[in-house]
Amino acid sequence: MAVMITGGAGFIGSHVCVELIRSGQSVVIYDDFSNSHPEVVNRIARITGFAPDVVRGDVRDLAALTAALVEHRCTAVVHLAGLKSVADSVRDATGYYDCNLAGSLTLAQAMQRADVRKLVFSSSATVYGEPETLPLREDHRLAPFNPYGRTKLMAEQMLQDIAASADPLKVAILRYFNPVGSHESGLIGEDPYGEPNNLMPYISQVAVGRRPSLSVFGRDYPTRDGTGVRDYVHVVDLAVGHVSALRQLDDVDVINVNLGTGRGTSVLELVDAFASASGRDIPITFAPRRAGDVASYYASSDLAFDMLGWKAERDISAMCADAWKWQRLNPNGYRNA
Ligand code: WQD
Repeated sequence: MAVMITGGAGFIGSHVCVELIRSGQSVVIYDDFSNSHPEVVNRIARITGFAPDVVRGDVRDLAALTAALVEHRCTAVVHLAGLKSVADSVRDATGYYDCNLAGSLTLAQAMQRADVRKLVFSSSATVYGEPETLPLREDHRLAPFNPYGRTKLMAEQMLQDIAASADPLKVAILRYFNPVGSHESGLIGEDPYGEPNNLMPYISQVAVGRRPSLSVFGRDYPTRDGTGVRDYVHVVDLAVGHVSALRQLDDVDVINVNLGTGRGTSVLELVDAFASASGRDIPITFAPRRAGDVASYYASSDLAFDMLGWKAERDISAMCADAWKWQRLNPNGYRNA
């Protein structure tokens, strides 16, 4: 009996594997390794003492998914495999709809065939679009303004229709804010291929000397210091939220909650926190705003607490300290493992 984690070798997936194993579950990783490294599996084994089973496969392969669910006697699926770059989704809309939406549909079909009925789905705060009110509550207007966000919203709606169908799945939809940090061991962490899109891995690569400086995208936002404000959430807290959601699916058919801290942190504040945690200077230059960015985004996490009993435990300094430990111990990520 196992829980399948699609994308389980990725940044969030590897942390979810660790927390599921810690909660007593067996896990099987289903991953095509297009954006992750096989070394992650060894690291999960070093952290937990258990080496997860691994199936190399594509979420759009119905036969392979169905076979893996049956062979590993899966009781549930945590679906994390997907593409997550807003900018790339504009350039390659077809690829994003194919992977994120068609992939989620194929997984649902495979689960119905294999009679696996519990699904935890990785969604994103991007489904809200431009905030009308803050903090963002789950009943906020849903108006994503990029293909990535639309693939996530459409997948949410599709899965909720399937949950209400004659061949239902029980679905926990988790809307991530900004996952950052690493497991306290420093053995697993965020390892983007090429130049990082996201702020935290970019800062940590500057700190370790892989990049000369950070470009701060915009300093004229209506925020306390003019730079973008986001709700950064420790990836271990996020992973624990998945364990809680899976457990709650024993009693509830549909869950849809934010996973965030409820606190906003600006770019400059994160830079300062990382400099303090690492003892490294983070040179910055100011650049124009990045297309598609909004000024402020942070979650209401009340519903996650009410429905899952979950709230984030780790603060910004812990996120920075853990991210720095991972980067310091793995200056080139998993590649030199
Ligand atoms: C955070 C802030 C930037 C890089 C994205 C996705 C979202 C989710 C999380 C999947 C912003 C600023 C960034 C840099 C900077 N992914 N920044 N210099 O854009 O909030 O969300 O990742 O679910 O869907 O859109 O995160 O880390 O890219 O940016 O100044 O080199 O840092 O302008 O204010 P974002 P981010």
